[in-house]
Amino acid sequence: PLATRAGMEILAQGGNAFDAAVAVSAALSVVEPYSSGIGGGGLWLLHRASDGFDTLVDGREYAPGAASATMYQDKDGNVIPRASMDGPLSSAIPGMPAALVYMAKKYGRLGLARDLAPAIKLARDGFPLDQRFHDRLVGKQALLQRWPAATAVVLDQGQVPAVGWLLKQPDLADTLELLAKQGDAGFYQGKRAQQMVDGVRAAGGIWTLDDLRQYKVVERKPLTGDYHGMHVVSAPPPSSGGVVLIEILNILSGYDLAHADPVQRIHYVTEAMRYAYHDRADYLGDPDFVQMPLRLLMSPDYAAGLRATILPDRATPSSALTSVSMPQLGNNTTHYSVLDKDGNRVSGTVTVNFSFGSCFMAPGTGVVLNDEMDDFSSKAGVPNGYGLVGNSANAIAPHKRPLSSMTPSFLETRDGIAILGTPGGSRIISMVLLGSLDFFDGGDARSIVSLPRYHHQYLPDVLEYEDGAFTDAQVAALQKMSYTLADHGHWGNMQAITWDYKTGKVTAAADPRGIGTGEVH
Ligand code: GLY
Repeated sequence: PLATRAGMEILAQGGNAFDAAVAVSAALSVVEPYSSGIGGGGLWLLHRASDGFDTLVDGREYAPGAASATMYQDKDGNVIPRASMDGPLSSAIPGMPAALVYMAKKYGRLGLARDLAPAIKLARDGFPLDQRFHDRLVGKQALLQRWPAATAVVLDQGQVPAVGWLLKQPDLADTLELLAKQGDAGFYQGKRAQQMVDGVRAAGGIWTLDDLRQYKVVERKPLTGDYHGMHVVSAPPPSSGGVVLIEILNILSGYDLAHADPVQRIHYVTEAMRYAYHDRADYLGDPDFVQMPLRLLMSPDYAAGLRATILPDRATPSSALTSVSMPQLGNNTTHYSVLDKDGNRVSGTVTVNFSFGSCFMAPGTGVVLNDEMDDFSSKAGVPNGYGLVGNSANAIAPHKRPLSSMTPSFLETRDGIAILGTPGGSRIISMVLLGSLDFFDGGDARSIVSLPRYHHQYLPDVLEYEDGAFTDAQVAALQKMSYTLADHGHWGNMQAITWDYKTGKVTAAADPRGIGTGEVH
């Protein structure tokens, strides 16, 4: 809610959606550092209303220059458990600070200093610790306690503070102020860069000043698709999100889902997920490093070929597909959606990867560093922290971006638009898919974020569903079709906006599973 307030404050000051996105991202760094922050990265899908221009700002982290494909393996070639997840050796070079500077300058109206002001105030004055933050601290207390700087900032004398405790982050306020005053140089060069490199290296990491100095935001052309006339705009690689979403929708385009009975619909949607997640695992990585058959994967003809192999009454065993890697799970990361009065839009998904990222903070910086290196494949065939078994497309290389599942998206029909996205690792894509189908069926933002969810990602060959998503009769019918099912509680934290052109109504909604807020003024 405090990040939403920061965004609304900037809109009220005359900022546009892009200014608001910068303000929200920076505020999330302060109030939700377990999910995202300036020590991590993100992907921001932008729509400029004046000329209809869509673009993706890629502020994804990249690997340090000294990184190598085998850096998380011991001398016998075995992957060292958790080496790519804990401490500064797991941290890639942050992209978010550069992305905030870039967006404020190129697309914003108010200037970086004004956009960052609400976050700086939140960090300096503090805010009362909420239950969610408290629970995340409990989960990561032991890892945070390893690092004195992190311990001093987010713990109270080494212990998890009570809900309501005033959390002040003066070092983070100073870091954000340096960024506000000096732009990129305030973070990627000078005093802060030196502190981060010194802190990281003293604790076993491999960052250099050159790694920070050379980091660059990349602006990329979003991927587009069509589902029965609904225009889909989504994230290109280094995210797998847009490719997988569009491939699934292409497969589903050949079915009459509107008239299918619920079990039949779940079956087709699940089969389409299985095939597209299989391709994700096989082909995708950083586009600046690997060649990918994107046109093929997103072609309607290719989808038709896959559809022809789907039986109407039987699950396809994943073992029948060529053997490749397993995508990721996970629940961290953050999403927000912004629409301003001129129709500019932002769909922003931001992350430090696992909860509190690496749990490492370089002394004097206040910045929680990510553990995004775990989104790479540490060794072909060996699962990462989320169960990922990658191949060479997503192997570690110096200054390469790890493959993401973040799926910030826009949907456009003749009747309106939706802006949506969510955290949730590999489940991000299936959540955005279900939200997209709901929007197509007439759902507004509230309906999209509240939908019961289900997910299949090729491997493990299990159809996961949220409590209450399927009736007992549906579970039995799906089992009869040879599905293995698992009830996985709840997942995701979707934030969506819909705008109905006919009624003019704008709806902003936060996932009832989280603590966010949707505000319309
Ligand atoms: N770190 C999660 C993702 O980018 O998919």
